[in-house]
Amino acid sequence: MHLLAASTQRNLGMAIAVVAIVGFAIYLIYNVLWAGRGEKGSEVDLAPNRKPYLSDEELETSKLDLALVSGLVTLVIIGVALPLYWLGEPGRQQGYLEFSRDQFTSRGAGQYEERCASCHGGGGLGGTTATSVTDDAGNFIAAIEWEVPALTTVLYRFSEEEVRHILDYGRPPTPMQAWGAPGGGPLTTQQVDELIQYIQSIQLDPHEVEQEVLNGLVVQVRGDVLAANSDLADRLDAANAAVSAAGADDAAAETAARNLAAVEQEIRETSEQHIRDLASPDRGELLFNNEEYGCARCHTPRDSWRFTGPEATPGAGPVVLAKGSPEEAAEVARLGNLIPINIPGGGAFGPNLTNGATLRQFDSAEGHAGFVTIGSQEGIGYGNFGQGDGGGQMPAFGVCVGDRDSSERSAIHGFCTLEDGSVRPGMLTAEQIADIVAYERGL
Ligand code: HEC
Ligand code: HEC
Repeated sequence: MHLLAASTQRNLGMAIAVVAIVGFAIYLIYNVLWAGRGEKGSEVDLAPNRKPYLSDEELETSKLDLALVSGLVTLVIIGVALPLYWLGEPGRQQGYLEFSRDQFTSRGAGQYEERCASCHGGGGLGGTTATSVTDDAGNFIAAIEWEVPALTTVLYRFSEEEVRHILDYGRPPTPMQAWGAPGGGPLTTQQVDELIQYIQSIQLDPHEVEQEVLNGLVVQVRGDVLAANSDLADRLDAANAAVSAAGADDAAAETAARNLAAVEQEIRETSEQHIRDLASPDRGELLFNNEEYGCARCHTPRDSWRFTGPEATPGAGPVVLAKGSPEEAAEVARLGNLIPINIPGGGAFGPNLTNGATLRQFDSAEGHAGFVTIGSQEGIGYGNFGQGDGGGQMPAFGVCVGDRDSSERSAIHGFCTLEDGSVRPGMLTAEQIADIVAYERGL
């Protein structure tokens, strides 16, 4: 509607301009090309001041009325049309803002597809990228796949300026390179703006974020849950066998699939209950290691790595060794001291949290939880000696900060307020953060 207002305005302006230009052209043609060449010697007839003028009767009646009425009409136009025009102005500005946001989003989507999707996945849903580990001198050590985070929750955790910082400077030494001009990357400030606008458009809603966090925990306990419930494990095996056995028989396949889904649902519910029953620090450990987006990604060495083994069959592509599998353990042992040892919380992009580091940094669990809730901010100290010099790269987990530092003109402005006026929650609940803190303080 605002857009319509803006374009109606433009059409009207165009019409007036066209009338004025055409009128002026006619005037020129008439005067210069035609009337200007009037017959010579006819000045007596042509000169206005030599013609008898209208009589007083005529001047004081229709002529005067005409002048007065046209004056009145002009006044009415000025008096009414101008305020009317200004009444529509906020709508036009809003319309332009929305128009340019839509334009930025679609341009950002194009940029994203071209430059980011290969790693972060279509729609920002996450992915992997093949890379290698090298020593300080740049010598090859091992081939790995680096798990690339989804971008569908970044604005819960990072403010607009912090996302800009990540895009500008990347995250060395991870495969996330510097993209913006300040970090030596190829993108202009406007292109970075467009990407941020696009990222805003793909953020999940709070309920989806909650489910995603939970999904990451459920995956981690699945093995334990099946081991502890042999009946459930047996039924899962049977359901899977039935799906394979059904083959081309449509009716049987449908029944088998429905049965499998029911067993999976039961495993899910049992897992959720299992997670609720865990002691706080144990649940905290799951949250810390959450692959959907936890703390280990930045605080545990090589947490995002999956070793890629040699090609099983030449040409079949590398084999990705699952994290924690015997093959991975063998690969890690083979690489010996060439790669960082996977000590939970041992420090990677984020600092080392072990050996009581967080106890020294935060006198109380509350202070510790407070920091995890709001994250770090560039130039703002925290705890007993935290510097806050990482460009604000410790995410806020307990409150939505996407629009913390955005101005009213920014597209991110208002992101953390939902349409019904309520405030978007953070990625984790206060209880979940308390669980993580209980785990971290024991590291
Ligand atoms: C070569 C692969 C690769 C490409 C291409 C890439 N990224 Fe990344 N990006 C990563 C990895 C890996 C990380 C996580 C680094 C880590 O482990 O801390 C990351 C992290 C990020 C983060 C921080 C996410 C978070 O919540 O911590 C943002 C934002 C981001 N990338 C945006 C982009 C955008 C936008 C583009 C395109 C201009 C892009 N990336 C291109 C690999 C890539
Ligand atoms: C994107 C990377 C990243 C992720 C993910 C991350 N952190 Fe951090 N964390 C950092 C950085 C960087 C710092 C240092 C902050 C600074 O100096 O500004 C930090 C600092 C900390 C500190 C303070 C340590 C100290 O001794 O100063 C704690 C505690 C902490 N993080 C806990 C967590 C928890 C809990 C999670 C998960 C819920 C988490 N972090 C996830 C990057 C990360």
